[in-house]
Amino acid sequence: MTLPHTSALFPDRHIPEPQQINFIVGTRMVDEQKLYLIELDSTFEGRVGDLLEAIDSRTNRRYLMMISDIEYAFPHKEEHAEMLDLLRRRSDKQVDESTFNALCKNQAVCILLGEIKTGQKTENGYRPNKYTTTAIRAREDIERVLVNEWQSGVRLGSLRIGREKRDKLPVCFSTTGLAGQRFLVVGQTGKGKSTAIRHLLDGHLRLMHSTQKKRQVGFLVDDFKMEYPFDTYNQSGQTVPGLVTTLPDIAKKKLVILTCYPDDCQEHKDQVREVLRTQIPLDSLSLSVFCDLTDLSEAQKNVVRLVEDSERVSVHQFFTDLFAKDEHGMPDTLIWGKRYGSMFYSSKGRTKARGGKEITEEEDVDQNLRDRLGFIRRAAQRLLNMPFTTRNDQAGNCIPKLLDYLREGCTVIVDKQRLEDHQRELLTVMLLYHLFRHNQQLASGNKDQRDQMIPVVVTVEEAQYLLSKDKVADPDSIFAKIAFTGRSYQIGLLAITQRPQAIQKELLGQFDGFLVLPLEHANDFRHLAEACSALSGYRNDLASAPIGGGVLAYGTPKQIVSLQIENYGMGKDDHSSTQH
Ligand SMILES: Nc1ncnc2c1ncn2[C@@H]1O[C@H](COP(=O)(O)OP(=O)(O)OP(=O)(O)O)[C@@H](O)[C@H]1O
Ligand SMILES: [Mg+2]
Repeated sequence: MTLPHTSALFPDRHIPEPQQINFIVGTRMVDEQKLYLIELDSTFEGRVGDLLEAIDSRTNRRYLMMISDIEYAFPHKEEHAEMLDLLRRRSDKQVDESTFNALCKNQAVCILLGEIKTGQKTENGYRPNKYTTTAIRAREDIERVLVNEWQSGVRLGSLRIGREKRDKLPVCFSTTGLAGQRFLVVGQTGKGKSTAIRHLLDGHLRLMHSTQKKRQVGFLVDDFKMEYPFDTYNQSGQTVPGLVTTLPDIAKKKLVILTCYPDDCQEHKDQVREVLRTQIPLDSLSLSVFCDLTDLSEAQKNVVRLVEDSERVSVHQFFTDLFAKDEHGMPDTLIWGKRYGSMFYSSKGRTKARGGKEITEEEDVDQNLRDRLGFIRRAAQRLLNMPFTTRNDQAGNCIPKLLDYLREGCTVIVDKQRLEDHQRELLTVMLLYHLFRHNQQLASGNKDQRDQMIPVVVTVEEAQYLLSKDKVADPDSIFAKIAFTGRSYQIGLLAITQRPQAIQKELLGQFDGFLVLPLEHANDFRHLAEACSALSGYRNDLASAPIGGGVLAYGTPKQIVSLQIENYGMGKDDHSSTQH
């Protein structure tokens, strides 16, 4: 057997121009992602975020790479260090240039973004060969391929290459596609989460206003500062325009304010479609959701569950009986014996019942019931004391109107400004519960019914509380339902947080997309990269990005792009959206 001559394996040698002698010299695994090491020519200055176009002269394939870090190409041995030290101190000493350059060489640690073929980025499974692949700085027409996948929907920002933005290469994002998906906006405080949401809402409002489609997508948006609809100030004292200012005509048709304190926005009444008072009847909740929302003990919850499982009375009747008092103002336990049957009898009551006699006295009813009902009543009372709950329909119910607005594709801003933390969370859960119930009932129906489901995106601030480990642990709870089953009910969750680590890990791994802005702790990034491994090479890119810089990961498989988001309402044409 004769070995083929090496020239058959190795292409003809030609000497590349200086600045192009950037060879791929190896690979490295980091967090399950393969990184390519490119030894840089000493005259080549690259920085984090730069794009490189690599050409493999053995196969003629071209690849697109992004520099995720720069480091020294060679570990300095002791004798090198001595030599360099000598050079530093003794100007008369010489070293030949190539040795010196080699010693000082850098290498770029790169992510492979894909193969470039006919102006597109593709993944064909080919990988660049070692030593025969050289890299040059990517030209502008190559940069374009990075935004190919991000051309429809609402404009969120422009392509970012390291610290530079490319105004002519918009990065867009489909807000309507979010219905039924889970998407996380994450970043340290002040890094532009709300600004990003503002762009999305702005674009979505325009889109819903211009579209003729019958099925529209509603947005239900948490607002802790009432910063989305109305003008606010940033820390430098500049006005940040609200949606009623940037889109005055559209806001009148498509923007709704849901608030416990309508008087607070009296002056804005005519700038929006409606200022709707938040009123959710207690008896519109199911009894199991009532249990999930209160801090009842297991024994107390069991009373409620027994009632629910017996299906003997309506929720409305349950609360009527719960609030009923005897002549001493105490819970009236006798009703419970009479109406709910043997499950609440005492042994005396059971004997009576066996003998065919009527339940007439308190002693006929289980003695523990009185205490338990007392607790349950106080828990119900606490829910009723929330500024957004009412006793029943007659006392006020905003849900039917809310559903109508969402069905029309309105953006509903939920005013949480004056609510306390636990009230904010409760309100989110109650609203989501109603959305779920509405869509769930229709989801299993025929096509007509399914068409009546309301596609909606719910934006949740401080989402780490709602999606925390202990909240979603019980698979039957409303929390788990919200977190895990939105997809089939066309309910999208746009979760916003500064603390991704507090979100249950398994759940985070199921998110469909991420907008990552700079983070506070290294651990936060690691937690995200474990949930979405495609992100892992972007850590330095993100850390070195200017304000408004972020990384967007979305789709299956995840497409990733670095982007620069404009400051809302401050630039020249920053809130223009490209829509399809
Ligand atoms: N894309 C951007 N370009 C320029 N400046 C920005 C950008 N995004 C945010 N800023 C500046 O940072 C300020 C805070 O931004 P924003 O309110 O969006 O942050 P946040 O992440 O929502 O903060 P918090 O966690 O406190 O809610 C803005 O008022 C603006 O001055
Ligand atoms: Mg914010």
